[in-house]
Amino acid sequence: MLDKSFVLGAAQLQTVLLNSGHRMPLVTFGTAGLEEQTADMILEALRAGHRALDTATEPADGEGFGYNQPAVGEALSRSSLPRSDVFIISKVHPADFGYLKTRRAVERAVSELGEGGQGYIDLMLLHFPTCDREYCPPGGSMRPLGSFVDAWRGLEEAVKQGLLRSIGVTNFDAQQLEELIAAAKILPAVAGVWADAFHPVPRALQKLCRTTAVQLQVFGILGFEWSQGRGRKGKLAHPTSPVLEHRDVRAIARSTGLSAPDVCAKFFLQQGMAIIISSRRPERVRRALAGAADARSLDDADMATLQDLQGFLDSSLHIQASPDFYRGMIGFDTYELHAVSQVSTNWYCEGVRATYFKDGVVHLRNFIPSVAIESARRAAQRLVSDNGGGDMEDAASYPKGPCLQLVLFLI
Ligand SMILES: NC(=O)c1ccc[n+]([C@@H]2O[C@H](COP(=O)([O-])OP(=O)(O)OC[C@H]3O[C@@H](n4cnc5c(N)ncnc54)[C@H](OP(=O)(O)O)[C@@H]3O)[C@@H](O)[C@H]2O)c1
Repeated sequence: MLDKSFVLGAAQLQTVLLNSGHRMPLVTFGTAGLEEQTADMILEALRAGHRALDTATEPADGEGFGYNQPAVGEALSRSSLPRSDVFIISKVHPADFGYLKTRRAVERAVSELGEGGQGYIDLMLLHFPTCDREYCPPGGSMRPLGSFVDAWRGLEEAVKQGLLRSIGVTNFDAQQLEELIAAAKILPAVAGVWADAFHPVPRALQKLCRTTAVQLQVFGILGFEWSQGRGRKGKLAHPTSPVLEHRDVRAIARSTGLSAPDVCAKFFLQQGMAIIISSRRPERVRRALAGAADARSLDDADMATLQDLQGFLDSSLHIQASPDFYRGMIGFDTYELHAVSQVSTNWYCEGVRATYFKDGVVHLRNFIPSVAIESARRAAQRLVSDNGGGDMEDAASYPKGPCLQLVLFLI
C-alpha cells in the first residue's frame, strides 16, 4: 500500500491508500494545544505543504483534549485550497460512546467545521477505547451510553450517510482492536498509537494491523511525552525531549546529516507508518515537512540501532501512570503481561533476587526478549541501590519493604 518512493525520499510527500479506498497523506499536522493560534498555525502548515490535519470534537458534556475544531473549519474557509485537497482527521471522545450518542457527536463534528468542511470528515477515530477516570471523572456528566463497539456502529452509520469517508481508532491495544474488528461491518482504516524511539509500537498491534490492512499512524514521535506528558512528574521532567537528546539519535543525525527530529520521523515512515507532527513555530513546521520528504534515509544499521534503544527501560524514569500505560510501554501483548503482573505482585525486596531468578526469569523468558530481562535486572539493581542497598547479587544488602517500583518495571 505504501508508495516506496516516499521512504526513499521523493521530492514530494506521498499518500497511503487506506482499506476504505481513500488516500491519506503519510504526514499529518497535529493541532492539539494550539489554542487561539490554531487557525493561523494551520494556514502556516498548509502553506508549508501539509495536506492532512488532526483535530477532535469536544465531548457533549465536558472538556476534551485541547483541540479547537471550529478553528480548523475557519482555516479551511480562509485557505484557498479545494476541500478535496485537505484530509481532515477528527475524533470522538469516549464520553460520547453509544450508538446514538456517537452519531450525534459525528454530526456535531461535521457542523463544527462549518462551510469550510463541506459537510464531511475524511477520517473519524474513536479517541480512546474506554472512558477512564482520567477522562470521565466519577460523578461528572461525562458518561458514555455504550461501548466502543456501540460507538463503532454509530460511525458505520455515519459512513453510510456520507458524513464520514473512513473510520478508525486511536489508543487501542491489539486485543481491543481485535475485538472491534470481530464486531465491525466496516474495517477500521487507521489505528493511531503513541510511540517514539524509546517506546516502539507494540509488536502485537503491528502484526494485527499488517494482517488486517489497518494503517498505523503514530503520534508523539519526538519523545516529549516523557518530559512534558505522562512523564512530567518524573526525573526527566524538563523542557527538552530525552529522545531527541539520546546519544544514538544524535549520532545518527550527525552521520546522516539529518536533524534529530527528522531521524525520529524517518524511523517510523520507513516502517510504513504514518506520522502526526506538530509545532507552534512556523519555521519548524516547514523544516519538519521538508525533512520528511528529504531524499536521505536511515540505513539498516541506523534502523536497527533505533529499534534496540532501551530508552525507557534504561532511564530509571519514574512516572505516574496506570498499569495499562506500563503494559503498553514495553510493547508486549497485554494478555501475556497480565500473567507477568500476577507473578510479580508478590515480590518483596527481601526476596527479590531469589524470586527474580527462580520464578521471574524462568517464567518471563518464555515470552519476553532477553533485552527486557536485562533491563529489568538493571532496574532491580537501581531500585536496590536507590533504597540504600548494595550489590543486587548480595541478598543480605537488600532494603526491607515492598518493591513496588520493581513490579511496575516488570508488568
Ligand atoms: N490520538 C491521540 O490520542 C493523540 C495524542 C497526542 C497527540 N495527538 C496528535 O499528535 C499531535 C502531536 O503530538 P504531540 O504534540 O504530543 O507530539 P510531538 O509533535 O511529538 O511534539 C510536539 C512538541 O515538539 C516540539 N517540537 C516540534 N518540532 C521540534 C523540533 N524540530 N525540535 C524540537 N522540538 C520540536 C514542539 O514545540 P514547539 O511548538 O515549540 O515547536 C512541541 O512541544 C497533536 O497535536 C495531536 O494532533 C494525538
